[in-house]
Amino acid sequence: MMSVLDDLERIRSVDRQGMVDIMRRLPESCGDAIERAEHLNIPDTLSVSKDKTIRYRRPEKVVVVGMGGSAVGGDLLKGWLWDTVSVPIEVCRDYHLPAYADGKTLVFAVSYSGNTEETLSGFVEALERGCMVVSVSSDGVLEEFSERLGIPLVSLPKRFPPRCALPHLFFPLVVALERIGVLRDIKREVEEAIAILKQIRDEIVPETPTLKNPAKTLALGVKDTIPVAYGFRQYSGVALRIKTQLNENSKVPGKWECFPELNHNEAVGWMGPDALTRGLSVILIRDPDEPPEIRARIELTKELVLERRARRVLEIHARGETRLARMLSTIYIGDFMSVYLAILYGVDPTPVDIITRMKKGLKDRVDRVGELRERLIEVAGHG
Ligand code: PA5
Repeated sequence: MMSVLDDLERIRSVDRQGMVDIMRRLPESCGDAIERAEHLNIPDTLSVSKDKTIRYRRPEKVVVVGMGGSAVGGDLLKGWLWDTVSVPIEVCRDYHLPAYADGKTLVFAVSYSGNTEETLSGFVEALERGCMVVSVSSDGVLEEFSERLGIPLVSLPKRFPPRCALPHLFFPLVVALERIGVLRDIKREVEEAIAILKQIRDEIVPETPTLKNPAKTLALGVKDTIPVAYGFRQYSGVALRIKTQLNENSKVPGKWECFPELNHNEAVGWMGPDALTRGLSVILIRDPDEPPEIRARIELTKELVLERRARRVLEIHARGETRLARMLSTIYIGDFMSVYLAILYGVDPTPVDIITRMKKGLKDRVDRVGELRERLIEVAGHG
């Protein structure tokens, strides 16, 4: 019998807003994102108010401020560079910047809509503390005030769901770090990543039948369970991305954890009641060159815990030679898996109504964006 996932008509009828088509263009979006970011102009100094001048130079610390789909680029950056770049990179998902953020800190304010209050709050704090701010946005208060204040801004194309704009939310950070002297010689790695994404695309698009399609196979594997993604080191952000794509696209709860930490707590949780553990499936993110201690942990955890306790144990295999290609390849397979799972459940992957309702409900109770706008008008007025 033909799998539902091989019925192209059915896919189109459930995916009413066309997420599959956006995902199909991911490799080209990477190229477009880099091209747009190349226009970024970072000045030596910028006077944002009478007594506040920002000096842009090689930073001592990097903080990426963002939420949800807009924060993932920061996680990827951190995972990609954690052991090769000496400047610490943190992702801040809150209203307030860490205490250490100061004039020697590069702060990326990343919000696709430009109206996310946590990100705007971090943006205002960064300006007040004289941090080197670079904005990434397609609209809203963030774009408006970055333009008014002359803050270096990468303007994004409009009308994507934020999580589908991942290349546009990630590559500007890479280009900016190159400009400001933190990164060098990334061209080859970026080119390889895009080439690998193109190769994988043929294997995971709807036209490739389930038997040969790893993304469809994974979706069928996690169906009717709560999926759990396990990563390690550079794949921590990937595991989180997989979980959030399953949440937002497939509309299912999910979990993510990382080796080696999960061996020190999560593993014990699997010894709980069958009725609970049999409702979970695990997706292990695998790399051809896993360090021996990590490979041993993954294998042992599979043997002693997961194969005995979980409903299913599945794997996503990274492709390519370089780290960026490997990270993006697992993300690409995971993204398509989440859309196929949505198709299996008969839900349109694009809408995230509850997020919209929560943002609106919050605005009715505490209009933080309005307050932040006032603070920005004050800063701009003094500029
Ligand atoms: O995927 C989504 O829609 C969310 O996770 C948003 O990215 C999140 O709410 C933040 O909004 P924005 O990306 O517009 O800053």
